[in-house]
Amino acid sequence: MNPSGHVAVVTGGGSGLGEATARALAAKGAKVALFDVGLERAQKVAEEIGGIAVKCDVSNGEAGEAAFREVTEKLGVPRILINCAGIAIALKTIGKDGVHSLDAYRKVIEVNLIGTFNMIRLMADGAQHLDPLESGERGVIVNTASVAAYDGQIGQIAYASSKGGVVGMTLPAARDLSRSGIRVCTIAPGIFMTPMLAGLPEDAQKSLGQQVPFPPRLGQPAEYGALAVHIVENEMLNGETIRLDGAIRMAPK
Ligand SMILES: NC(=O)c1ccc[n+]([C@@H]2O[C@H](COP(=O)([O-])OP(=O)(O)OC[C@H]3O[C@@H](n4cnc5c(N)ncnc54)[C@H](O)[C@@H]3O)[C@@H](O)[C@H]2O)c1
Repeated sequence: MNPSGHVAVVTGGGSGLGEATARALAAKGAKVALFDVGLERAQKVAEEIGGIAVKCDVSNGEAGEAAFREVTEKLGVPRILINCAGIAIALKTIGKDGVHSLDAYRKVIEVNLIGTFNMIRLMADGAQHLDPLESGERGVIVNTASVAAYDGQIGQIAYASSKGGVVGMTLPAARDLSRSGIRVCTIAPGIFMTPMLAGLPEDAQKSLGQQVPFPPRLGQPAEYGALAVHIVENEMLNGETIRLDGAIRMAPK
């Protein structure tokens, strides 16, 4: 669909890949709502793009319902959902400091996997009642996995499990929602230059970038945003996960 004039929810919209996608959708004329736990940064981005910021922990059922109610009242029922909220930890199953904390594992699954599903179900519940566009399409959802879903490294057991779940839900979600004309795709990014990575020393960033066959650099958030917008626009893309990674295949560590 052409995003112009439609309501788009971008989770994790206050930073990194979500922020870049929110900007790209707003530039295409979408009315954008940023869902984030960090309200201050989301508000700043929202002001700059003429959207709204909504405080929401994506992993919480009631908070999610309240956030969708708020965006519906303020902007209308969302036809577009971009799931970018996520967290990462680095812990081994058995590490130097002992066994992997079960709470830490659960937290990553809650935010990255359950949070993604929570947003999908709530967005689809609203969008299923919208009038279809000319082709019968009612909505489109883009999730964010990671190359760690396929090449999870040492210390990425929780993160890779959560992202593998996001890849795994992509086809059944697309199949479930096909009756309602709602498409679902996932992007699996390689290594992108977001605030998370910008905190690393410059030589660490350079060395990560050089592991990418071509182009030998970190991805720019705008390149993620451009693909997310393309998925929104290209109606034939559905039920698929697209790696956006410069051909990197992560080594064990
Ligand atoms: N940067 C990379 O190299 C990279 C690579 C692969 C996948 N990803 C994935 O892309 C997504 C975005 O990552 P990023 O690099 O932009 O990170 P980021 O830390 O810059 O942004 C993530 C945003 O999500 C928000 N958030 C965290 N937990 C939340 C919750 N429970 N509810 C609502 N919002 C929450 C944060 O406040 C933040 O604004 C994540 O899912 C991440 O796993 C990133």
